[in-house]
Amino acid sequence: MKLNRQVLLESRPVGTPAENNFKVVGTPVREIADGEVLIKNLYVSLDAGFRNWMKEGSGDHILPAMAVGEPVMGLTLGRVVESKNLKLPLGDLLMIRVYWEEYSISNGVDDWFVHLPNGIDAPLSYYLGILGDTGLSAYFGLTDIGKLQPGETLLVSGAGGAVGSVAGQIGKIFGARSVGIAGSDDKCQRLIAELGFDAAVNYRDADDLSSAIGDACPKGVDVYFDNIGGPLLEAAINNINEKARIILCGAITDYHLDEPAPGPNNLFNLSKNVATMTGLMCHHQTDRYDEARHQIMEWVESGQLRSIEYMSEGIYRVGPAFCEMFQGKNFGKTIVKLAE
Ligand SMILES: NC(=O)c1ccc[n+]([C@@H]2O[C@H](COP(=O)([O-])OP(=O)(O)OC[C@H]3O[C@@H](n4cnc5c(N)ncnc54)[C@H](OP(=O)(O)O)[C@@H]3O)[C@@H](O)[C@H]2O)c1
Repeated sequence: MKLNRQVLLESRPVGTPAENNFKVVGTPVREIADGEVLIKNLYVSLDAGFRNWMKEGSGDHILPAMAVGEPVMGLTLGRVVESKNLKLPLGDLLMIRVYWEEYSISNGVDDWFVHLPNGIDAPLSYYLGILGDTGLSAYFGLTDIGKLQPGETLLVSGAGGAVGSVAGQIGKIFGARSVGIAGSDDKCQRLIAELGFDAAVNYRDADDLSSAIGDACPKGVDVYFDNIGGPLLEAAINNINEKARIILCGAITDYHLDEPAPGPNNLFNLSKNVATMTGLMCHHQTDRYDEARHQIMEWVESGQLRSIEYMSEGIYRVGPAFCEMFQGKNFGKTIVKLAE
């Protein structure tokens, strides 16, 4: 009998998630019914946004709130190892929104899944990072909302993370000056040395973040790609140019808060500069995923874009690796490999 080890939400995180919010348990894998498949998960994608649905009463039109004592919801990439569904034969590779677990059972309808490899020859883990929601968010944000032009200045928060590391590199491909915001000197140096950013600001170290951004962006900010919200957003708004575009991709600062934080105190700066601030939701562009993935792969193959992964192995690493994202330990996309 196969054993499925799953990660349960042992308790709701208070502030930054901690390892004891999660617990691994094993349960026997049940027989699949007609129409179902058994999927052996090869990778778990760890996404900062899932912290939101760990809060009590946080359910929305995207996902229900997670329940204490139940498996943690997340995104995995796996292979069909048993099938009673003609549309999903043995060996098929699927990206699926299920749980942090080694085996998943799906009817191929309810679990928002994507068939791979979609005609692109790439390492499988790329589909969770540079070719997944995080890489695609960077691409759609800069093309559709940012409309980034050569010679402009792009500022990116969470620049050492999955979305941010791709956004800054795409900025360089578009001929812009890319400036990152990250949480350590080491990360800032890596952004410049390994990913070609022009400058980087350590937000933890800056006495006055607005001035530090101003120093790193002497011509002001034309496009701000925001993954963090809170004080970083406010400091960026202090530095925008006329007709600047702000891309609201995420708000990690808020994910930890039970009560919403007050908004930026300087929104009138948008009016004065005829600037815009627009929300991004990657899933709204599913009809353009193939186009975006082909473009991203072309850049990877030509050496203009690097896929950076923060990879570890085994189901016991899933909870800790999720916590490490919020401690800023990751550089690039956080992924846990479960099987070959
Ligand atoms: N809109 C969409 O469709 C979409 C899709 C995917 C992801 N997202 C959003 O994109 C953002 C990035 O997600 P990701 O999965 O790629 O995570 P990530 O950037 O790989 O990891 C999170 C990073 O955020 C930084 N951070 C954590 N807590 C912070 C805090 N309190 N203040 C400032 N920085 C903090 C850490 O780096 P430091 O060392 O710099 O602190 C960490 O490396 C999230 O907001 C996510 O929800 C949106």
